[in-house]
Amino acid sequence: MIKLLANDGIDASGKKMLEAAGFDVITTKVEQADLADYINNNNISALTVRSATKVRKDIIDACPGLKLIGRGGVGMDNIDVEYAREKGIKVVNTPAASSQSVAELVIAHMYSMVRFLHLSNREMPVKGSTEFNTLKKNYSEGIELSGKSIGIIGFGRIGQAVAKYAIGNGMRVYAYDPYTTMATIKIDFFDGSSKEFLISSAPVNDFISKCDFITVHVPGGEIIGEKEIALMKDGVMLINAARGGVINETALLNALNSGKVACAALDVFNNEPTPDSTLLTHPKISLTPHTGASTKEAQLRIGTELAQLIIDFFQK
Ligand code: 3PG
Repeated sequence: MIKLLANDGIDASGKKMLEAAGFDVITTKVEQADLADYINNNNISALTVRSATKVRKDIIDACPGLKLIGRGGVGMDNIDVEYAREKGIKVVNTPAASSQSVAELVIAHMYSMVRFLHLSNREMPVKGSTEFNTLKKNYSEGIELSGKSIGIIGFGRIGQAVAKYAIGNGMRVYAYDPYTTMATIKIDFFDGSSKEFLISSAPVNDFISKCDFITVHVPGGEIIGEKEIALMKDGVMLINAARGGVINETALLNALNSGKVACAALDVFNNEPTPDSTLLTHPKISLTPHTGASTKEAQLRIGTELAQLIIDFFQK
């Protein structure tokens, strides 16, 4: 029986598929420091992770019995993918399964920022019954998304899914992607009809100063720092649901404090799972704990797609 350790969990339907195909699926959470020993002592052939568990060179070298590493999700920055492949280990992920969920969270954060939901939700429980009218006054100058412009840097699956929602909200979309020159954004409606929009990739400098919102959807690396923020519109709002540091955290804090950036939304952070407390307590930041892909629907898709990839690999 092939033994699989799902160290960051796996959706119940994915687990069921694997078990039906004869795998022994272990969902014990093993601490990073004990992982290599656990894999070796339990004859684990397949390891699945999300973003929490790191599968670096040390684990790969220490576990010669490992045949497959599965990433339930998109980003593989926690896995030494090339090194694993050189060692003959199959590495798979589920790049398409969570785009919709991430895009919806990005739009949720945009609504949160423009209507101060992040602040109201912090203050209403404390002051809602004693200072209702003050809070009403404080949060009465929201703006609408409709008619505003959004710049999407990184126009792959997630960036394009964000574009659908932005267009649906009546927004003007600008996009940049190094690999896409033009994308067809197809919006499907409940009655079976659909409408297509063509969005061309343009150099970031062509639109960075025109956007009311900028969201970044790239695998990692710093894309927005002090220099880029200086080029933006005063009062711009920024969203990072990609990877910690894609928007430089220090530059962001400075720009929020100076008022250059009106508000920011962060789902991802440097130093997860212990983000900088200045970010966590900042009144101009709408926050979520890296839950972009964490919807029931996305987890179901991720679990079943990953299970199928694993079954196909071991049964080939
Ligand atoms: C991803 O890369 O798939 C997302 O960042 C989600 O990460 P998670 O699997 O840790 O929720």
